[in-house]
Amino acid sequence: MKKRVAIIGVLLSLGFLAFSTYEKPGFKKSDQDPRNIEQKIDSVLALMTLDEKIGQMVQYNGSWDVTGPATGTDNEKKLENLKNGLVGSMLNVTSVEHTRQAQKIVMENSRLKIPLIFGYDVIHGYQTMFPVPLGESASWDLELMEKTARVAGRETAAAGVHWTFAPMMDISRDARWGRIMEGAGEDPYLNSKIAVARIKGFQGNDLSDPKTIAACAKHFAGYGFAEGGRDYNTVNIGIYELNNTILPPFKAAADAGVATFMNSFNEIDGVPATASTYLQRDLLKGKWHWDGFVVSDWGSITELIPHGVAKDKKAAAELAVKAGSDMDMEGGAYESSLKELVEEGKVAEKLIDDAVKRILRVKFRLGLFDDPYKYCDEAFEKSELYSEANQEVALEAGKKSIVLLKNENDILPIKNSIKNIAVIGPLANDKDSPLGNWRAHAVENSAVSVLEGIRNYAPKGVKITYAEGAKLSTGDRSFLNPMTFNKDDKSGFAEAEKLAKQADLVVLVVGEDAFQTGEGRSQTNIGFAGVQDDLIETVQKANKNVVMVLMNGRPMDLSWSSKNIPAIVESWFLGSQHGNAVAEILFGKYNPSGKLPVSFPQNSGMEPLYYNQKSTGRPEGGAQVTYSHYTDSPREALYPFGFGLSFTEFEYGDIELSADSFSEGEKIEASISVKNTGNMVGEETVQLYLHDLVGSITRPNLELKAFEKISLKPGERKVVNFIIDKEMITYFTINKKWEAEAGDFEVMIGGNSVDLKKANFEFK
Ligand code: BGC
Repeated sequence: MKKRVAIIGVLLSLGFLAFSTYEKPGFKKSDQDPRNIEQKIDSVLALMTLDEKIGQMVQYNGSWDVTGPATGTDNEKKLENLKNGLVGSMLNVTSVEHTRQAQKIVMENSRLKIPLIFGYDVIHGYQTMFPVPLGESASWDLELMEKTARVAGRETAAAGVHWTFAPMMDISRDARWGRIMEGAGEDPYLNSKIAVARIKGFQGNDLSDPKTIAACAKHFAGYGFAEGGRDYNTVNIGIYELNNTILPPFKAAADAGVATFMNSFNEIDGVPATASTYLQRDLLKGKWHWDGFVVSDWGSITELIPHGVAKDKKAAAELAVKAGSDMDMEGGAYESSLKELVEEGKVAEKLIDDAVKRILRVKFRLGLFDDPYKYCDEAFEKSELYSEANQEVALEAGKKSIVLLKNENDILPIKNSIKNIAVIGPLANDKDSPLGNWRAHAVENSAVSVLEGIRNYAPKGVKITYAEGAKLSTGDRSFLNPMTFNKDDKSGFAEAEKLAKQADLVVLVVGEDAFQTGEGRSQTNIGFAGVQDDLIETVQKANKNVVMVLMNGRPMDLSWSSKNIPAIVESWFLGSQHGNAVAEILFGKYNPSGKLPVSFPQNSGMEPLYYNQKSTGRPEGGAQVTYSHYTDSPREALYPFGFGLSFTEFEYGDIELSADSFSEGEKIEASISVKNTGNMVGEETVQLYLHDLVGSITRPNLELKAFEKISLKPGERKVVNFIIDKEMITYFTINKKWEAEAGDFEVMIGGNSVDLKKANFEFK
């Protein structure tokens, strides 16, 4: 007892145990001076026993929610360990009430009273849902994405949670992979920019502000390159691809000061990421000088056993800790084996110390030592969650994320002459799927459906009819359970056909159920599930004036619809305000401005598909077959990366370069004029791509290197200027270094990755 009092005394004298003073708005900033933080960390570490140190590296799942197979550790044992200060973090404990309860267990019982850090998957909103990350990335609007992350962070903080396991920045080129929905698509540059915007949004400028939360760069690394698009599958990529394509967003996240990283389930070229010293120690904590902590993915340390690189939990713990995994998420390997490994001399205690210091550093930055209950504010929780202001942000994000894929004969926006609209389809009045998967605390069926949105926005006097046509899924839908689809019930077709015949225009809402994408949701067929293909054809036969509204979390096979349906609106899963956002587009209240962050294929067999391909060595075309193509399908995307239509037209001038060469220390300005030649205000995302014509390793035919979103009034023209400098042409070369190589380059600018103006320059 004496000892305990003495220790608390030490902590108080260091000035970081003032948790009884609970701060209201205008929070007390924590001391963020790195020298002071380091000093405090050392003082705490000096007080800790080996058991307590290892305890900081243990993360338990709260029993409120389960995201994977839980370990056998029973809840009583968990409670004991919490009381004894043998747990550093919990996930899936949410709400002020529950986080306070859990924190109290530690603060009122443990010897050193080191606060828990609570983590949770806030992927696209806590209770107010924003578009799924892939959808929101289609906005190419970095300010917007920072804003939605800020709001999601505020709602999370208001619910007592300190830390989100987001953003996911896995480059994904394979629409079959269900988790493509959680990222920013296929491009490293766009992913990097978006990752930084989201991190800034979550973390703000001061982690100790109880309205911000710590972010997590995940999954480090290569998870999106699972073979065949099958989740958790083997990844086989080389060092150049890894560095040039997969790592840039992670490097950007580390540079932006992301608080934590999460490693990943997959192996890369034989080495599971969780056991990868190259990734975690050499790069992240070495070359990149990043000082936060790495949490494992759920059980990914014990998964080293089935991976076949560790014979048991102990061996798995040894591999992971040596490689630089600092915290064991619900795997039980660290708590069961680390002590023994240290005592046997197999793991140096300094590795444990390093991990603990990293974890404590984040806790100090969050200000948890000043007040472990600083995120426990019932009044803030009540006023913040699902507030009206947050709904407005959701609407803004929703409409800016929509991509207009096709609009034959300007069928959209809906004309005043249209007096009878039939809204048809299994997703038309679905109030749940728009919430997407990984939906945190979204309330089931709380989204505005497309039908509701249309009713809200349709001009007076327009008749709206509705038919579901067919069910998409049957049975229970949930995060963990497999989906079942309606494969034969077409009993609703007749009504749909009748309404389509009577209407001036049909809005046909089809696509995917929310739970068709997300973790463990890989598909070999990315077409329409259930009886939707037949429904689409039935409706199209009954009325040619069809606007298809797609709801989905991955690129889909739209080959038939792209030929036979005059207008296609890609609406992803837009979150709480889905239907209103769609209606704003349909009725021309907002001019669509989204651009695809991912290529849409002609068919499933083309996956993985991405725009920044290489040329191969094989000469092109001619009458022969022996060149790189398909004999049964075009090889080009149906809708390419960067593509999206507007209700107005943009005309691009030619590229003007300030010089046709530059060398070290110099730069070139590339300018292009863009004119709105239509008659509606519109936003355009002007995209700049480069092609390095000859490299020491093979180079992509084009790579996105810059973009700017501009707004133009009818008739208005703007000149957009881009700077081309050494940094822009630097890549991971044959020397395994980031270098700029002398040679010729092509610069391409346009409104998507296909329709581009071109010019050439040289780097000397
Ligand atoms: C996922 C992570 C997630 C974690 C915690 C894992 O299954 O891969 O992305 O953060 O669960 O829920």
